[in-house]
Amino acid sequence: MTSTRPINQTAIWAQLHQHQRCTRFLHMRDLFAQEPDRFECMHEKLNGLLLDYSKNRITEHTLSLLIKLAETAELSDWIHKMRDGEKINVSEKRAVLHTALRQPATAKIYVDGHNIIPDVQRELIHALDFAESIRSGQHRGSRGDRITNIVNIGIGGSHLGPQMVTLALKPFHDPNIHIHYVANVDSNNLHEVLAQINPAHTLFIIASKSFTTPETLLNAKTARQWFLQQGFDEHDIAHHFVAISSATKKAMDFGIAKENIFAMFDWVGGRYSVWSAIGLSVMCAIGRQHFLDFLEGGHAMDQHFFEAPFRHNIPVLLGLIGLWYSTFYATTSHAIIPYDYGLRRLPAHLQQLDMESNGKQAGRYGEHLDFDTGPVIWGEEGVNCQHAFFQLLHQGPRLISSDFIVPINSFSSFDKQHQVLVANALAQTEALMQGKTLAEAYAELAHLDNEQCDMLAPQKVFPGNQPSNTLLLDEINPFTLGMLLAMYEHKVFVQGIIWGINSFDQWGVEYGKILAKRIEPQLQNQEPLNHDASTNGLINYFRKHHHDTTSA
Ligand code: F6P
Repeated sequence: MTSTRPINQTAIWAQLHQHQRCTRFLHMRDLFAQEPDRFECMHEKLNGLLLDYSKNRITEHTLSLLIKLAETAELSDWIHKMRDGEKINVSEKRAVLHTALRQPATAKIYVDGHNIIPDVQRELIHALDFAESIRSGQHRGSRGDRITNIVNIGIGGSHLGPQMVTLALKPFHDPNIHIHYVANVDSNNLHEVLAQINPAHTLFIIASKSFTTPETLLNAKTARQWFLQQGFDEHDIAHHFVAISSATKKAMDFGIAKENIFAMFDWVGGRYSVWSAIGLSVMCAIGRQHFLDFLEGGHAMDQHFFEAPFRHNIPVLLGLIGLWYSTFYATTSHAIIPYDYGLRRLPAHLQQLDMESNGKQAGRYGEHLDFDTGPVIWGEEGVNCQHAFFQLLHQGPRLISSDFIVPINSFSSFDKQHQVLVANALAQTEALMQGKTLAEAYAELAHLDNEQCDMLAPQKVFPGNQPSNTLLLDEINPFTLGMLLAMYEHKVFVQGIIWGINSFDQWGVEYGKILAKRIEPQLQNQEPLNHDASTNGLINYFRKHHHDTTSA
């Protein structure tokens, strides 16, 4: 939304729709044939990261129109508002300052007239010092044992980000410290972890910004009960339980000692919080310097985002190209395809980052948005995806954009296998773009008789023209991972600003929770039901067929 009118009522919006109508039949194989320097003109490099966006259904004119759209949406002003701590999360009257978490200690950012950087640095050092005390053996269990197992109990942004980063940076872990993640209220998640740990050697981290999330509190209570049933008592809790929250009093009421509570700030959204004390499990895994490198990578991307001209601004380009498909091609999804085993949870993290930010139909001031906004984000690690859903990407009827994320160098000791992985990644984006014509299919089947050719050739046609971005990283290390993650945070920001969305609240997650509180007691009791016929039917069926094995 511009300061004057909704973005979809601007001239540039209409021009982009017209441009899509005029260019939608262009095939990328022709664009590459006509533009031998297309890769040269359509890639950007930053500190060991290369973005190739040439395999997209765009021309230079497309980019110029999209940049004009960004300017019309006053994107630069909004970037500076976020950077400088203005309260752009208008529904919660909060600043949006996950970027402040990775600013140097000398920075000055004011919220309500107060420079928040010293607070950020204090909490960062508190968390890093504690993590180092775990790693060094200075902080031990109540019986003097070293802590060798960390159990992070949290969900959403208090789970997905830390888990993704921890898995991605496995080569940087202390091999003597094992990190576990418990998120689901399905107690099998917790019990699977409890079966693997010795309580004397275990630290439980209760990660919850609000300290009101039912799933997290239930898991935390169950873990606490389990711990006390293992021969420990209340005074042992202080050695084995810590909390991360912006709700310090609630955490203390739960029984966490104040000195064991790591603060986080209300101007950092959960899905943007891995850079904060929510990253404590990551700090325990990789240590102080690697976590600082991670922050440094995020900061490097921030500076690029704040300063680079839009035509060469990586998050802006990704945001605009993604919006080109979501809004002007009305595509419904975008795939995240990391060709790296360690990044296998990146799609899950980006699902929350993107879909909880921009999965909305109301604009930041409550106006209805009658155009397509945030896409469904999905994906799977490569090469597994090739044996799962690439059939649809190659020969299905839908336009589906994707990001291929590929490390050039791997920590794997089998470099031959790494080269097979990379070859597959590059081949897939080439095949998705090039496709295969009917004539080419016939030529490949020339050895068959005409009847077989006529039957098989159409099965072997690949329409191509399926767009993809390729991100090459020198290697997946704390710095490059920080850049990658910050890049996606800013891509989401760009799209939300242009669509006129407040990307930093999440009212949509509340309704289901409220209904669950109403249904839960009805599963056990026999009170008359007044839901819809389906919900009533399902509850009644559950009542009839559920067996409470715990009471057996
Ligand atoms: O999914 C809703 C949500 O509020 C997310 O935004 C958040 O990351 C998650 O729940 C967990 O919230 P908390 O960290 O407050 O427990």
